[in-house]
Amino acid sequence: MNILITGGAGFIGSHVVRRFVTNYPGYYIYNLDALTYAGNLENLRDVEDAPNYTFIKGDIVDANFVNSLFDKHKFEGVIHLAAESHVDRSITDPLAFVRTNIIGTVNLLNAARDLWKDNADSKRFYHISTDEVYGSLGAEGLFTETTSYDPNSPYSASKASSDHFVRAYGETYGLPYVLTNCSNNYGPNHFPEKLIPLFINNIIENKPLPVYGDGKYTRDWLFVEDHALAIDLVFHKGKNHETYNIGGFNEWQNIDLVKLLCDLMDKKLGRDKGTSEKLIIYVKDRPGHDLRYAIDASKINKELGWKPSVTFEQGLELTIDWYLSNEEWLKNVTSGDYQAYYEKMYN
Ligand code: NAD
Ligand code: DAU
Repeated sequence: MNILITGGAGFIGSHVVRRFVTNYPGYYIYNLDALTYAGNLENLRDVEDAPNYTFIKGDIVDANFVNSLFDKHKFEGVIHLAAESHVDRSITDPLAFVRTNIIGTVNLLNAARDLWKDNADSKRFYHISTDEVYGSLGAEGLFTETTSYDPNSPYSASKASSDHFVRAYGETYGLPYVLTNCSNNYGPNHFPEKLIPLFINNIIENKPLPVYGDGKYTRDWLFVEDHALAIDLVFHKGKNHETYNIGGFNEWQNIDLVKLLCDLMDKKLGRDKGTSEKLIIYVKDRPGHDLRYAIDASKINKELGWKPSVTFEQGLELTIDWYLSNEEWLKNVTSGDYQAYYEKMYN
């Protein structure tokens, strides 16, 4: 079975690629990635020579290129993760999100529809999406699979649009698809523009920890390997044309999470308790900042038996240990363009 994984050099994609290459020697995995600032082949050094794996550098926005790949490799499954994924960047450059997240997704849908038009049996287009499409919760309630879409950022609007296209291709062309909406991931290989890896890196470097607004925003955190496990289950056992929500049952207000991270980092770095907390500063809020995300993951739990395998404390410790023992990785991704990004966003 030839499977196309898009965005496999990114954070979540690299964990999915590793899992599929390692656990399914009968599959041939093609990893298509444009290697934007977020894509990093260092993430996949341990599997790059596997006999059932090929990396292809390319842009999903290029329809001719995408079509030629489908023609050549006759993919039977697609797991689509490639995206522009950072909310703050979507505020400064929305069109980049329209291009990759919407046009790129539609290019893949067209190619799959055309290739599978005469025989869609045992084919599967799996679209990976986010809980951010549901907008913001108040103090109560959870996002379910039937919560209305209400995106607030250019990022979530582009992901919501791509979700609608996937469903529409299912209805209009009978494209066999599954779709998942997941909460905030954390773990190894996370690019240090997102809260947890950015703050780990800043604590190591004794730099300020910029908490947006009053820090009372809430996110539901899931260890990335548990997301990869859920993706494996949904790809193999999820029902055609169904959506599943994936979440960590693990809500944290940003400020509490940051304080926990500071404590753990002080211990790991042998610093006095309270040292890293002194780095916290409150900065201007993100425009359109969603107050709270929280997922009701009971459907995937009941139907597919999925639940997170590690606690937040375990996952966070694994994550911190990974960053502390992969200094080179961190150094490489925070040199060059990253410095300019940081200046622009935070200074
Ligand atoms: P990421 O930014 O770390 O990785 C994205 C990857 O896509 C990178 O390797 C990048 O090079 C590649 N890419 C970007 N534009 C491309 C293009 N035009 N053509 C080909 N490749 C391109 O993102 P991530 O955090 O790993 O997220 C992966 C997917 O999961 C995204 O679709 C995202 O919306 C979704 N998601 C992420 C989270 C999270 O917390 N990170 C949660 C839920 C859903
Ligand atoms: O919910 C799933 C989504 O989670 C994914 O779809 C996105 O791809 C992913 O980036 C993430 O979005 P968030 O906006 O929730 O993640 P981020 O790490 O950017 O921010 C988490 C919270 O921390 C949010 O409330 C904003 C806040 N924050 C973030 C940064 C980068 C800060 O207070 N300071 C910061 O410097």
